[in-house]
Amino acid sequence: MPDKSTTSEPPTSKSSGAKSPAVTPNAAESSSAPEKSGPARKIYQIMKYGDPILEKPSKSITKFDAELAELAEDMFATMYSAQGIGLAAPQIGKSIRIAVVDVTGGKNPEAKIVLVNPEIIHGEGEKREEEGCLSIPGFRGYVVRPQFVTVKAQDVKGQEFEIRGEDLLARAFCHEIDHLNGILFLTHLSMLKRDMIRRKIRKLKKQGEW
Ligand code: NI
Repeated sequence: MPDKSTTSEPPTSKSSGAKSPAVTPNAAESSSAPEKSGPARKIYQIMKYGDPILEKPSKSITKFDAELAELAEDMFATMYSAQGIGLAAPQIGKSIRIAVVDVTGGKNPEAKIVLVNPEIIHGEGEKREEEGCLSIPGFRGYVVRPQFVTVKAQDVKGQEFEIRGEDLLARAFCHEIDHLNGILFLTHLSMLKRDMIRRKIRKLKKQGEW
């Protein structure tokens, strides 16, 4: 999901759930590097609507190694550089079940959430808000999502946890888990709105601007 700064809904600390399993650089890395910022991160290119990888379900992750932890950090870096609040692996061309979320957009390191093999196990209430997607830049639309969700997931080490999200965080969880299932927010729009966006994207493609 891209930044929601254009909407009236501010991210609140209340919505950040009970547990946020932030990934911290490992001890060896931080002791050998004097800077707090850690190693340079890979910034991935973000796949745009039309790439088939965005519309196919991703595979479960079974290997919880250092490479996965690195990938998660690179995904945060990629997401921040695109000013997003959520990013799923298919969006960087990897059809695997990992997504990162930070509704503070990098302002609070404790708000960093990595979801590996996530599943929504409970949803409650309804909220209709405008939504966008880094893979569909320039387009937004109103989507109804649960106001509260509980997600079961694993961290980069394979440890299972549950996290509850409210409002924007719940929306980000739903949006990113949809990505892992090959579903884009366009699917949730009215047919009229969806067709309008698709038409505009087709036109942009013809002009070589997509
Ligand atoms: Ni998205």
